[in-house]
This record gives sequence, structure tokens and C-alpha cells, in this order.
Amino acid sequence: MKKLIMATTVVLFSAGGLRAAEQRHVKVESSQERDARMAWWREARFGMFVHWGLYSIPAGEWNGNKWEKGGLEWIQKRANIPADVYEKALVPQFKPKDGFAEEWAKTAKMAGCKYLVFTSKHHEGFALHDSKQTTFDAMDACGRDLFKEIVDATKAEGLKVGAYHSVIDWHHPQAYAGFGLPTVKGVTNEGRDNSVYVDYLHKQVEEIVTGYGPIDVIWWDFSKPNCQGESWRAKELMALVRKHQPNILMNDRLYAAKASFIGGNSGLLKEWSSERGDFTTPEQHIPDTGMDGVDWETCMTMNTGWGFNQFDHNWKSSKVLIQNLVDVVSKGGNYLLNIGPKADGTIPPESIERMKTIGAWMDVNGDAIYGTVASPFEKPAWGRYTAKPHRLYAHVFDWPAAGTLAVASGNLNVTKAYLLADGKKAGLRVEKTADGLALALPAKAPDAIASVIVLEHD
Ligand code: GLC
Repeated sequence: MKKLIMATTVVLFSAGGLRAAEQRHVKVESSQERDARMAWWREARFGMFVHWGLYSIPAGEWNGNKWEKGGLEWIQKRANIPADVYEKALVPQFKPKDGFAEEWAKTAKMAGCKYLVFTSKHHEGFALHDSKQTTFDAMDACGRDLFKEIVDATKAEGLKVGAYHSVIDWHHPQAYAGFGLPTVKGVTNEGRDNSVYVDYLHKQVEEIVTGYGPIDVIWWDFSKPNCQGESWRAKELMALVRKHQPNILMNDRLYAAKASFIGGNSGLLKEWSSERGDFTTPEQHIPDTGMDGVDWETCMTMNTGWGFNQFDHNWKSSKVLIQNLVDVVSKGGNYLLNIGPKADGTIPPESIERMKTIGAWMDVNGDAIYGTVASPFEKPAWGRYTAKPHRLYAHVFDWPAAGTLAVASGNLNVTKAYLLADGKKAGLRVEKTADGLALALPAKAPDAIASVIVLEHD
């Protein structure tokens, strides 16, 4: 934690960045101010991601072709559907049910999520907000401002809200095509004036950061080495967002940061600079040893794709999802777990079931997740550690049959150990050993997935 704060101060603005920031009237932020802005996010540790749009209608099938795996939010690209064909076929079918947004927000709350990030616009280009820039939006499609419905429902549950906004656009006639970006077959950049699209992008973003009250996160997606940064006029775009939402957090996907996708090894972190965003986003991946000195958030699907796919039954178990959450947090990261609602907004029962199980676990063990930081110790074979001042949380995945658990303690002076699930906090017998401590545990684990032991220390 100390190391993280230091790094932020140093990296915040390079000399060049500082001058440019001043020229752009961007207020230079101190590390204290940045830490204050990041505080809720670092405390939260767990959020819900929602991929929902027109692609939720075909749900993995087009003209008889079916896809069982992968992101079918990409069906327009997978099936190489021209934009006008895509729009004409799907917009008339888009009929969200009443109350879908409340169902999402309540599900996130039930699971113990503290924030919800939803796709305001994905690569297909369809906007969920009421946009004055296009008729390819929810208001024109179904006469509703779905962005507003989701933001209001999320805030009503006391959760922070974020918008995933794609900079890639398969609908806008002047959007970038090629440059290494996923592009629908047959579409080239020839004759396109991309600056027209970038103006459109900025105007739509300004609509969502000025028309819906506080927005807590903008989750950009995504860039490639040949189309990143100033291809989107990123500095101007981020300044525009910060001007209207000074406390907002932004990820770093206006830039093609490999660290964003692969995470992990320190080599890639060389690319990291908080001028590019407040946090980086390993995808479908948990960095082996975390990302020291950087705020990071692993985003992950429950099956193999982000958007709803009626053929994708490759669901991860609740055990895997809970142990992933613990693993991510034990390395100092946030976990953004995805759901892909059906076309009318209904959440698949498999997702509800998993969110319910995670929520039950968080009801008992949330203390060992919220507001914790990375483990000060190597990860033990039997599980993970998370930490708070004067508390080490041992998350036991594999309960010792012999009834004794070897725990690292370093030079911590452990004063008491007890099961977090035990409301009475009955002390466990603790013995000092050459390598640390030996805890005497009851025969049966309180939880089959992860049982938490609290080690209080001074
Ligand atoms: C990838 C996928 C995109 C998805 C995103 C979520 O970029 O291409 O469809 O929205 O990951 O992280």
C-alpha cells in the first residue's frame, strides 16, 4: 500500500504531461487527491459488469449459423453483417421489459457488488442513452432512455455506476476501419473522414457525462497500437470527461496497453502511466503476482462470452468465481464479474444462481474483502491472504484434514485468531513454530469454498 501511494505521486504527470495538462487547464492532481478519488474503488474490490445491447437479440445465432463460445457481443463481426442490415433486423425487435434495471441493480447488491458497469455503447454502435447525435439509440428504438433507467436503478441500490463506452464503432460511417481494430468484412477506411467520427464520439461522451448526474466510472474499450491515444484525441476526451465529472475514474483502454489485457509480469507495467487512466484492466486473466504500484481490475465472464449467448453453457462454478474473487483481492486488485442479460433484460438463471451463492459468501466474509489490501505474504498452498491494519485474513480453500493449519506470520505479533463465520469469535489455539504459527482448527470447515480465519495482530 505505501509503495502504491508513492508510485502514483511520481507517475501522475511527467514533465511534458504536466506542461500539456496546464495548457489544457487540467488541474494537476496531488497524490492525496488521487487517493481520495480512488478510495471508494479501492474499498469496493468487487463490481458487476453488464454486457447488453442489440447483440443480445440474436444471442449467438445468425441466419442459421450458431456460435457456442466466445464473445457474441461481436456477432456483427462474426457474421460480417453490414451495419444497415444489422440495424434493420434488430432495432424493431429490441423490447426491454419493465423493471429490468432494478433487477440488475438488486442482483449486484445481493452478490455484494459495490459498483455496476454497463455497456452504454458497445462495438455495434447502438447507444443506450438518449443521444442527439444519432437515431441509432434506445430512445429512437424503443422510446426509452435506458441509460437513465440503469443509472437511476443502480444509484437507488446505493451502488456506484459506470459506463462501458466503446471507441470502436461498427455502425458510424466515418469510424475507423482497419488499423488492427476488429472490422466487419468488406468495410475499409477508404474515403472515411475519421475526425468526423471522433467528433461524434466526443459529443456522445459529453451527453452521458452531462445528462445523468454523477457517473463514477468510464470504461473505454478498446485500442490497438495503430489506433490509440490521439487517434481518439484521448487527452482532450479525458479532459472533457474530467471537466464535467472531476471525481470520475477511467480505465486505460484509450491506449493499447498490453498490460490491460495480459496484466501480470512487470515488464509490461513499464508501459503503465496514470496519464492514460486511473486503472488497468487484465481481461479474463488474474495476474500471477498482482500489479505492484498500479490500480488494476480483472474483468471476467461467467461463461465464455460477455454478451448473452443462448448456446454457451460453459459456466464457471460458484466455487471458481468466489476463489477468483479472493485470489484477485489477495493480490490487491478489483474483480469485475460479468453478466449478459437476455434481449428483454432478463438475467440468465445460471448467473442469478451464482450471484446468490457469492452473495451468501460475502454476507459472512465481506470483511475479508472490502477495504483489504494485497497479502504481505507469499500465497500459501491452502489458500490466500488479504490484509487490513492489525488484521490478516487467511482464506482457506483446502481445509487441513489433520486439523492444524500452518500460517505465515513474519514478525506479526498475533494476539488472537478466530473464524470469521463464528459470531462469538471464539479464540483458536495458536502455537508458534519455526516458520510461523500453527492454528488448531475444528474438524469441519465453516465453508466448503473458502473459510476465513481472522488473525488479529498489533
Ligand atoms: C474485449 C471484448 C469486448 C468486451 C471486453 C470486455 O475487449 O472484445 O467485446 O466488451 O473485452 O472486457
